[in-house]
This record gives sequence, C-alpha cells and structure tokens, in this order.
Amino acid sequence: MESIKLNITRALNFLPEDEYSKQMVPAMEKLKLLHEKTGAGSDFLGWLNLPSAINDKQTREIIAVANELRNEVDVVVVVGIGGSYLGAKAVIEALNHSFDQLLTTRKAPLIMFAGQNLSQDYLSDLLEVIDDKNYGIVVISKSGTTTEPALAFRILKNHLESKIGKKQAGKRIVAITDEKKGALKQLANEEGYKTFVIPDDVGGRFSVLTPVGLFPIALAGVSINNLIEGARFMEKITGLDITPEKNPAIQYSIIRNLLYRHGRKIEIFVNYNPKLRFLAKWWKQLYGESEGKEGKGIYPSSVDFTTDLHSMGQYIQEGERTMFETVVSITKSNKQLTIPHDKTNLDKLNYLAGKSLDEVNKMAEIGTMLAHVDGGVPNIHIEIPSLNEFYLGQLIYLFEKACPVSGYLIGINPFNQPGVEAYKKNMFALLGKPGFEEESVRIRKNIF
Ligand code: PA5
Repeated sequence: MESIKLNITRALNFLPEDEYSKQMVPAMEKLKLLHEKTGAGSDFLGWLNLPSAINDKQTREIIAVANELRNEVDVVVVVGIGGSYLGAKAVIEALNHSFDQLLTTRKAPLIMFAGQNLSQDYLSDLLEVIDDKNYGIVVISKSGTTTEPALAFRILKNHLESKIGKKQAGKRIVAITDEKKGALKQLANEEGYKTFVIPDDVGGRFSVLTPVGLFPIALAGVSINNLIEGARFMEKITGLDITPEKNPAIQYSIIRNLLYRHGRKIEIFVNYNPKLRFLAKWWKQLYGESEGKEGKGIYPSSVDFTTDLHSMGQYIQEGERTMFETVVSITKSNKQLTIPHDKTNLDKLNYLAGKSLDEVNKMAEIGTMLAHVDGGVPNIHIEIPSLNEFYLGQLIYLFEKACPVSGYLIGINPFNQPGVEAYKKNMFALLGKPGFEEESVRIRKNIF
C-alpha cells in the first residue's frame, strides 16, 4: 500500500543548516506527551487511536442505518457547524461528483448542509428547494446547545413534521450527540430518534472519524471502510516507534514551526483541484482553532489554484514575505480529458493538442512552485497518488496527528478553544438570553 508523500526540501532551503535536525528530539518529546496522554488537554485524545480502535460492528451499524435512510429519501440535510460539519463536507466534496446536484445517475441521496450559518436567505432557499422533496435530517451537535445548528434544526424539524407528520418525521431524523447530556440528547430520547454517540474524549475538530463524519459520509455513498483503512495506515507510520525522519507528522510539525519562528506567520493551503476546497476549510479549522491562542499561532489560510493565481497570485509572488505554502497535489486525475486539435488554431493552442488537461495543470503547478520559491515563499509539498477514500483517510489523520505536536511545540493547549466564547457572550446579551442581563446593559450602553 502506497503512502502519501511529504516533501519539505523547498522549505528547508529557507532555514539555517542543522536547525531542522535539532528539532527532532523536542518534536519526538511532544509526540510522547500525546501518546502517553501527559500533555495539555489530554482528556481529548480519543481520536488518537480511533482508526485502529473502530471495529466492524460500529462501521456496520453506521452503514446499516445510513442505508435505511438512503432507501427512504432523496435528500438529506446535515445540520451542524465547525467540527460537527466540516469533516463530512470536506470528504463528500472531495469524493463525490463535482456537480452532484445536477447528476441524474446519483445512487445516494443528495447531501445538503444547514446550521453552519445564521443566514435567513440561505435557510429560506434551502426550505424552498426541499419543500417538494423526500428528505431526512441528520442533526449533529456534541454539546447539543450550539445556537446555529439548534435554530436550523428547530426550523427544519418543524417543516418536516408539517409536511409528513410528526411520527414519520421522527423516522427520518438521526441525531449525533453526546451519550448522556445536552438538549439534543434529551430531545432525541423523547422523540425516539435514532442516535449515534460522539465520544466524550473527542473534540469537534478531531471528530471526522467518529459518527460525526462517518455517518453523513456513508449516506453520501462514500466507503467509510476505505477511509478508516487509510487513516489506520497513517496511524501506523506516525507512531512513537517510527524514527522521526520517517514520520511525516513529525516532519510537518517541525518544518511549519521553524518557518513560523523565522517570521512566516501565515500558512497557505494550496490545491489545484476544487474538490479539495472544503478540505482546506476543515484544515483551517483544525489548525486555527487548535493553535491560535495566547497571542501565538500560524494563521492558516487557503487558495484554490489556478483560480486564485488570478487574484492572490500577485500578493503571494511579490507581497510581504511572511507566508509559506503547503501544497496538496494529486498525482493522477480520476478522469481523462484530452485537448482537441483545432483546424483554425485561432487561439494558438494547437501546441497543446493531444495532451491531457491534467498535464497542463501539472505544469502550472510546477511553474507556480518554482516561481513562488524564487519569489521567497517556502514550499511544503504533499503528494497523494489519487483522490480516493484511502488516501484522504491518510491525509486527514496526518493533519490531525501533526496538529497537536505542532501546538505543543508552539507552547499552547491544542485541544481547547476559549476564544470561541467571546462572540457568543455578546450575541446572547444582545438577543436578551436569560442569564445575560448584566452583560446586555453593558453592551447596549457601548453601542446604542
Ligand atoms: O471543534 C470544535 O470544538 C467546534 O468547532 C465545534 O465542533 C463547534 O462549535 C460545534 O459544536 P457542537 O458540536 O457542540 O454543536
């Protein structure tokens, strides 16, 4: 079985000699903290052995319930936000047809997402298009109290119940939440929804390989077994028993930290295939929420190339030298498309006739990499042989594993997110939520 490949040569050139090798020992110490569960946030390490711990019975149950719902409906609305949304969305977008919504040969229900924003237009538009559809709902919230998904679920549940009746609606709703606590758990018990548990010791952004990600992914017709297989492969080659030179999680965490220490405050996740757009968003949440605290942390950003070469390309080539790029490159396209010969050749593109579009994309990728490195942008290169479940599983686990090692190297707790509460407190005070009266008076004085 082939592994995805990490190449850091074009980033090492930007660092003083020996600095990288000196970081091997500290990075391995951080990996040890993780494996021995002695570092900050060690109550949230349930994801670490998930790929090897998950058993056939668990995956069979996920697939069975997904198949039941698939037989009932044409559309499923998955309700969730942050870690309860991005992993599933990333995998489904990466592996499904790019124009799934218009595909007439689809074998699985169309997966739509809600509860990831508070936009009235978005949810109204969604209600409009599902009004005459056979649809089901999967509601995902670990806490069971997050405002965005809770509100969207209230509205969608009300819509579905009015459309097909409370009893039938109950059979088409699946809840994924905490085992015991939270409003969603209580509601699911009362209404008799089918439920899956989010383990206590797995934080939202590390939960894609729990039912949070696996259930919607299975619903979309993607093989969760192959995804887990890929993650399991990466779990093995990033263990404590692997030498740091051969451990891609150690290599990635060291190189990005060294670049950060040398003034590279921004990491740009680059793709050359729009199917990876949401993987970038998932990665941004994983690293942004894990590392950005105590006034520290690399700012994770992303671009889609070659699209954004025509917008952000100028800045990356010649703007402030505070960034580095992490390119996720796919060796082989899943589909073939050859450029045709044209008699008139008015566009002067006959020199490309007979080549595949992918070849052109690859040359754009190599050309861009060379230009950006020449322009002073260090380059980390991750190559995946092709876009499938197995390699995506590897990639997901690689990023998950490297993230806390990197966070420990920066000196923060990668498993909390205290900063996320600030906006919620203000929003609740402004909306007059009971318990926020004092804050409401203070905040209103300041702005109105
Ligand atoms: O990573 C995290 O912890 C967050 O992004 C959460 O996943 C997000 O806030 C949603 O929380 P919940 O699943 O409790 O609704």
